[in-house]
Amino acid sequence: MRKKIVAGNWKMNKNLQEGIALATELSVMLAADKPACDVIIGTPFIHLAKISEVIDHKNIRLSAQNCADKASGAYTGEVSAEMVKSTGAEYVILGHSERREYYKETYDILKEKVQLALANGLKVIFCIGESLDEREKGIQNQVVKAELEGSVFNLSADAFKNIVIAYEPIWAIGTGKTATAEQAEEIHAYIRSVIAEKYGRQIAEETSILYGGSCKPSNAAELFSKPDIDGGLIGGASLKAADFKGIIDAWKR
Ligand code: 13P
Repeated sequence: MRKKIVAGNWKMNKNLQEGIALATELSVMLAADKPACDVIIGTPFIHLAKISEVIDHKNIRLSAQNCADKASGAYTGEVSAEMVKSTGAEYVILGHSERREYYKETYDILKEKVQLALANGLKVIFCIGESLDEREKGIQNQVVKAELEGSVFNLSADAFKNIVIAYEPIWAIGTGKTATAEQAEEIHAYIRSVIAEKYGRQIAEETSILYGGSCKPSNAAELFSKPDIDGGLIGGASLKAADFKGIIDAWKR
């Protein structure tokens, strides 16, 4: 069956020393109390190589939060998928709404990034989700379908197996406003049906679909109890080891 996952997205938080301390604390916690799901931490680029040395990769997998849409060369300031992979990272988060909005990442740019990530042996946590305005207009299903069609449905079935989907309603990110478990389940089931139409029932059943947006220890268990919610992509609550562990432990309840 599909993987249960709790993934942290640290965003632009923690300097190198703070990041190493947080990853070490989490690694010690999970060594003492093994997780019942896959645990991933998405750190800033500069943390990856160092954190890769301090964590136990059996309990924690490492992710970048972005990679370049070009393979290599004269692109000052960019970090390639190959570089990410060389740090020991296994995943990259792509398509986050913050990158779509603030850095104008289009469907086509994201399509390039996804292909380069997969070509370099990374798995992709691909984020989709509607704005408040789109939710109020009732077009959330069209929005998430267009995001999938625009950037990942060009992949072969074999390549698609390396994609984890994260549904993150933009109105719930960092706002304290969580989608209800019912609202999240409804759209997760829809996302799975769209994947089934494209790749068939079996691949859809094997695809992990995470929920993201103000997920915390107090609401994680209810969200994760839904049949189509396979875990969470956690922002704020991944910045404290105890809170993140509280969400990881929701898979044990
Ligand atoms: P919060 O958990 O802080 O709402 O962030 C969610 C998110 O954007 C994870 O990628």
